[in-house]
Amino acid sequence: MDKELGIKDFYIAITGRCILRCIMCTTGKGVHNIANELSTEDWKKIIMNLNNECRIERITFGGGEPLVREDIVEIIKFTCSTDVVNVTFITNGLLLNEEFMKNFNNDELRKMSVNFSIDGLEYEHNFIRGTGVFEKMLKSFELVYYDYFKPGKLQGLVINSILMPENLRNYVSFLEFFRKYERVQVDIQPVIPNNEIFWLKNCFKLTDLEKGKLQEIVTYVENNPAQSCRHPLMVRAYLKYFNNELLKGERCTTGRNALNITLAGNTFLCGKEIIMPLHKFSLKDVISSEEYRNEMKRVDACEKPCLQGLHINTEDFRDKDFLEKFIN
Ligand SMILES: C[S@@+](CC[C@H](N)C(=O)[O-])C[C@H]1O[C@@H](n2cnc3c(N)ncnc32)[C@H](O)[C@@H]1O
Ligand code: SF4
Repeated sequence: MDKELGIKDFYIAITGRCILRCIMCTTGKGVHNIANELSTEDWKKIIMNLNNECRIERITFGGGEPLVREDIVEIIKFTCSTDVVNVTFITNGLLLNEEFMKNFNNDELRKMSVNFSIDGLEYEHNFIRGTGVFEKMLKSFELVYYDYFKPGKLQGLVINSILMPENLRNYVSFLEFFRKYERVQVDIQPVIPNNEIFWLKNCFKLTDLEKGKLQEIVTYVENNPAQSCRHPLMVRAYLKYFNNELLKGERCTTGRNALNITLAGNTFLCGKEIIMPLHKFSLKDVISSEEYRNEMKRVDACEKPCLQGLHINTEDFRDKDFLEKFIN
C-alpha cells in the first residue's frame, strides 16, 4: 500500500459509554446510540485499513471512557503493532490501575501516551466530574507518573484540561499544583458549548470576575510557557474565544490532516457524521464522497474555530507570526 492520503492524526471515540456524567460532556446524556458500538474485529479492521492508507502520526482513543471497553487493551496493543507512531488514550483515570498498566510491554509503552483529563483542583474537578473523582484520578495519575513515565517506558504523559466558566476561578492554583510533576505538560483547551455541534459558539457570557481570572491564566502561561502544550499566544486567543469574537479559522485541519471517528466507525466533521463506516468503506472512498466534500465546504467557511487539539494545525500554532495575525 502506498499510504497516499494526508491524514496523520485520528481521534477515535471507541465507545459511547462512561461511568461519569461531566457537566460539559454529552456522553451519557442519551445522544450516543451505544448499540452502534463496533466489535473488536471491526476496530482492528479499521485501524489496519487506516494504517494502509495513511502515514499515521497519532491515533487517540477517547469516547466515552475508553477503559470501559473490555477489549481496550487488545485494541491498544494491536494499534501499537502497526506503523502508527504514537498511540494515545484519554482517560478520566477511574479504571486505570497497576493491573491495567501491566498489560503493556516496554516496546508498546514506548509508543504510548496517557492523557489524563483534569479540570481543576479537588473542588472544581469534583464539581465538574462528580464526588470523589479527583482523589481516585490523582492516585492513578501518580501511579503512571512515578512508575511508568521514565526513560524506556511510556512515551508521553499529558494533562488534558478543559477551560470553562466553572473552573476559571482557581485555575492558576491548579496549574501551580501540577507544576511539581516534571515534564508533564497541560493541554489547556477551551470548552465547546455543545460537543455534538461544534459550530454553536455565541453563548459565552463571562462576568467581569471571570474575565479577570481568564486574563490571569493567560499571564500565568506567558510566565510558565514550558508547562503548557500550547503556545502562550494561542492561550491568549481564548480571551477572544470566550468573548464570542471572530478568530480566523482558515487553518482548521479537520478532514485534511486530522479526523474524528465515531463509535460506529463513521467520520465526523464538526457535528456531522458521514454514514460510511470505515470497516465497510475505504477512507479514500469516504473522502471522495459528495457528502464529505460538501461538509468540508462548511468546515472551510468556519470563522470561529473551536481550538480543540485535533482541529488546529499545531505547526501553525508554533509560528509566532501566524499566531499574532490570528489573535489580532
Ligand atoms: C469526551 S472525553 C473521553 C475520554 C475520557 N472519558 C475523559 O474524560 O478523559 C475526551 C476529552 O474531551 C473533553 N471534553 C468533554 N466535553 C467537552 C466539551 N464540551 N468541550 C471540550 N472538551 C470536552 C474531556 O474533558 C476529555 O478531556
Ligand atoms: S468527559 Fe469523559 S469522563 Fe466525563 S462524561 Fe465525558 S466521556 Fe465521561
